[in-house]
Amino acid sequence: MNQYQQVCENLKAAPKTWLVTGVAGFIGSNLLETLLKLNQKVVGLDNFATGHQHNLDEVQSLVTAEQWAKFSFIEGDIRQFADCQKACAGVDYVLHEAALGSVPRSIADPILTNSANITGFLNMMVAARDEGVSSFTYAASSSTYGDHPALPKVEENIGKPLSPYAVTKYVNELYADVFAKTYGFKTIGLRYFNVFGQRQDPNGAYAAVIPKWTASMIAGEDVFINGDGETSRDFCFIDNTVQANILAATASDEAKNQVYNVAVGDRTTLNDLYRAIQVALAENAVNFERDPVYREFRAGDVRHSQASIVKIEQGLGYAPQFKIAEGIQLAMRWYVNHLK
Ligand SMILES: NC(=O)c1ccc[n+]([C@@H]2O[C@H](COP(=O)([O-])OP(=O)(O)OC[C@H]3O[C@@H](n4cnc5c(N)ncnc54)[C@H](O)[C@@H]3O)[C@@H](O)[C@H]2O)c1
Repeated sequence: MNQYQQVCENLKAAPKTWLVTGVAGFIGSNLLETLLKLNQKVVGLDNFATGHQHNLDEVQSLVTAEQWAKFSFIEGDIRQFADCQKACAGVDYVLHEAALGSVPRSIADPILTNSANITGFLNMMVAARDEGVSSFTYAASSSTYGDHPALPKVEENIGKPLSPYAVTKYVNELYADVFAKTYGFKTIGLRYFNVFGQRQDPNGAYAAVIPKWTASMIAGEDVFINGDGETSRDFCFIDNTVQANILAATASDEAKNQVYNVAVGDRTTLNDLYRAIQVALAENAVNFERDPVYREFRAGDVRHSQASIVKIEQGLGYAPQFKIAEGIQLAMRWYVNHLK
């Protein structure tokens, strides 16, 4: 039995109360699904800024009535301190996912991104600290590596942020560090690298690349690649990310006050990703044979991204179960079932 399986067994034997902020979003709803399947009690907080009731409905359809009864939802906003206090009451483990994602959104409206990602983050930290929760794990981001050129990305070596979004995620890490020093409140930051999978939103101007392309291919519409297609990313299937969160929340004190990369440790170019999605869709009877349409590079994007996952493997016992190819197959099955 690996460390993750052991932790899951321990949780089933002695269930805890979890708060998942951003629970109606992509990562939050996947955390909710796994936690309920482990018979945990879950409080969810979301204001539906980018999350959806249909994500919660889908989770309900995937768990038993008894498991669903262990979930309580608060419609609220992390920018309101009282909502954060209400959500933290009686909670053991906090998984803080609520934020406004997307580099282009932050360039279009830095004030809005700042309010959710920095003010909201600070509210959550203070509410969780005051409640005396056992652990606080938050969604950090690979965007914090900014203009640092080295590959693979190692946690200690970061550059300057390239977007307002990246600034907000770095400020989260700075606050987390200062809370450990000043209040002894130790947290774990998980620097996610391009997470993808079931329930990632394909709609809207700020959709991520995999759901956006997939939806276009299923609809038979042109797919646009920003730049020459040789931009690369360390795409990480959602189930690996869920594993990282559960390991982080239950980690010992020595593993805390740290940030960890969450990825697979591989690098895939956008051109290769395009072909992988085409192939996986064809396996699900969606044949899209058009070539991509190349256009300008996008402001604020880093050229290459690949994580070192040594620190999280050694520090938290993380062992990603899904490589990109398997993740793409599972994700495409879900998109075809839900979009076609
Ligand atoms: N998906 C990725 O590849 C990725 C990469 C790096 C970091 N992250 C971070 O992971 C977290 C989750 O991202 P996701 O991909 O699930 O995005 P998502 O947009 O699907 O989920 C975010 C959720 O937070 C909620 N939310 C936003 N502002 C809120 C507010 N003021 N009050 C309460 N709820 C609010 C949204 O309604 C949504 O349900 C975010 O913090 C994001 O920055 C994601």
